[in-house]
Amino acid sequence: MCGIVGYIGENGASPMLLDGLKKLEYRGYDSAGIAVYQNGGVQVVKTKGRIADLEQKLSKQSPLVGTVGIGHTRWATHGAPTDANAHPHKGGDGRITLVHNGIIENYIELKSMLETAGYRFLSETDTEVLAHLFDYYYKDDLLEAMQKVMRTVRGSYATAVLSTDAPDCIIAAKKDSPLIVGKGDGENFLASDIPAVLKYTRECYLLEDGEIVLLKKDGISFFDRDGAPLKKEIYRVTWDAEAAEKGGYAHFMKKEIAEQPKAVRDTLSPRLQDGKITIPELHLTEEDIRAIGKIHIVACGSAWHVGMAAKYIFEAAAGISCETDLASEFRYRDPIIRKGDICIVISQSGETADTLAALREAKRKGAHTVSVVNVVASTIARESDDVIYTLAGPEIAVATTKAFSAQLAVVYLLALHFAKAVGRLSPESEVEKCAQLSALPEKIESLLALEEDMAALAKQFAAAKNVFFIGRGLDYAISLEGSLKLKEISYIHSEAYAAGELKHGTISLIEPGTPVVAVATDEDLFEKTLGNIKEVRARGANVIALVSGEHQEVREFADYVIYVPKADKMLTPSLNVIPLQIFAYYMALERGCDVDKPRNLAKSVTVE
Ligand code: G6P
Repeated sequence: MCGIVGYIGENGASPMLLDGLKKLEYRGYDSAGIAVYQNGGVQVVKTKGRIADLEQKLSKQSPLVGTVGIGHTRWATHGAPTDANAHPHKGGDGRITLVHNGIIENYIELKSMLETAGYRFLSETDTEVLAHLFDYYYKDDLLEAMQKVMRTVRGSYATAVLSTDAPDCIIAAKKDSPLIVGKGDGENFLASDIPAVLKYTRECYLLEDGEIVLLKKDGISFFDRDGAPLKKEIYRVTWDAEAAEKGGYAHFMKKEIAEQPKAVRDTLSPRLQDGKITIPELHLTEEDIRAIGKIHIVACGSAWHVGMAAKYIFEAAAGISCETDLASEFRYRDPIIRKGDICIVISQSGETADTLAALREAKRKGAHTVSVVNVVASTIARESDDVIYTLAGPEIAVATTKAFSAQLAVVYLLALHFAKAVGRLSPESEVEKCAQLSALPEKIESLLALEEDMAALAKQFAAAKNVFFIGRGLDYAISLEGSLKLKEISYIHSEAYAAGELKHGTISLIEPGTPVVAVATDEDLFEKTLGNIKEVRARGANVIALVSGEHQEVREFADYVIYVPKADKMLTPSLNVIPLQIFAYYMALERGCDVDKPRNLAKSVTVE
């Protein structure tokens, strides 16, 4: 994670650097800093805390007026979030100034080599090793030094470097962490992600692993890791920056919850045409689909929960065996992938390090890879064989909502597409399913009206120490998501359990007053889940039940009942998740938490 920016041009660098960092704050927000060329040297201002703290620090000193600079917002990996560990870091006697996103895996051995060579370290970071190492290799050629650094370090990096010896240049490189270049007129930009430069330019270059860029105010040169010049295509950004503004809402999360009907509609409608599912991005023939032995789904966090739901959906709808893995496990467990298997990777950002590595592993083993990604032209999107974009628009709140819903929508499309190919969906049923999908955004919209009820429940339960979520089948998958949403933004301990598994341990944690959210919308399993509700109630739990349709009888066993509209079983996750998101949001508000930027988290997790 971490976000990096760079500016070289004729205007003051600081405003762009600060502005860019604000757009990248979703990547990490525990400390921040900028470095600007000034008076023959490089001035660094950095601080623990957020960009706002950095701005405050800057306002208390004479302004940085230089026209070349780099900046960083940090998510700590090596060393606590302190002023000393914040980037930029200096290398040598201050000749080098550097920012870095990623992890240098062999930093301990490099540090000892550099200490022996006389370098002194002021921080606990792996990044400072990179700064000194650059100085160590730097004679008079930035490109040569960068190549040597890249040959020496192991790990992941996007890095940008200033040298007092070459004040008209910024040199940068990347491996396994994103980096883009914005092309301006008499000025150029560098950033971890496109939104940071969108105010200034729509013409970008997307760096690939092992590429190096040398930026001057009126020139951009690309090189491969051997120093050979590269020609790169411009990527023209067509989407709007305003989509990433709060637009009157108190929080991005609130706005993004409200945007879910649109996100789902935008994702579904181009792929539903005249009662037919069409996914032109998918380059699998009907024959290929019939030959699939297994679908491997890999993802992290909430996207993994979509994968958990997808397992039930693919198997039920298409009768194709499906396994869902956490990307961080899949990448190291030497998974068995047979001829014909496909791998679906799900990722909002398209940059999650473990998911990317899992994608590469699946490709290496011969699987056809399909990614479900929200960020256009992100690394996962670029590297997978097929990419199906979720058209949710930019998602800013760290806790995902609308991207999650859009991912579910793609899962439904894929499941029905596969079902059709294997002969389990007749043309009549396809028309009916398309109609149900078209009606889904409206049903989601109707659930937004539960806001007051969920806010009232949150008032009641805000002081809880533990909250349990239970459900079976698809209700279990959505319980996982409800529980994650709650814990990540309200800091209340929460666990989700397959309701039938509860009595194998977790039930011992239920005490009088423990809140249990029971998702019981699967009609086929309703009686079973009701049985589990009775079990926790008998031990004093305060039960909030989520049921679909009538089911008045549940009132006898649950303290609170939330009714969600009836829907085709496959589509229930899209409905059930809405009240759970709203509940988590209000729980966090009640507890005075920073809803959009929960502690210790980052939206784009580009380190493993
Ligand atoms: C982080 C985010 C989660 C997200 C997960 C995977 O942990 O906070 O909301 O689900 O990363 O991210 P991705 O971008 O791959 O979907």
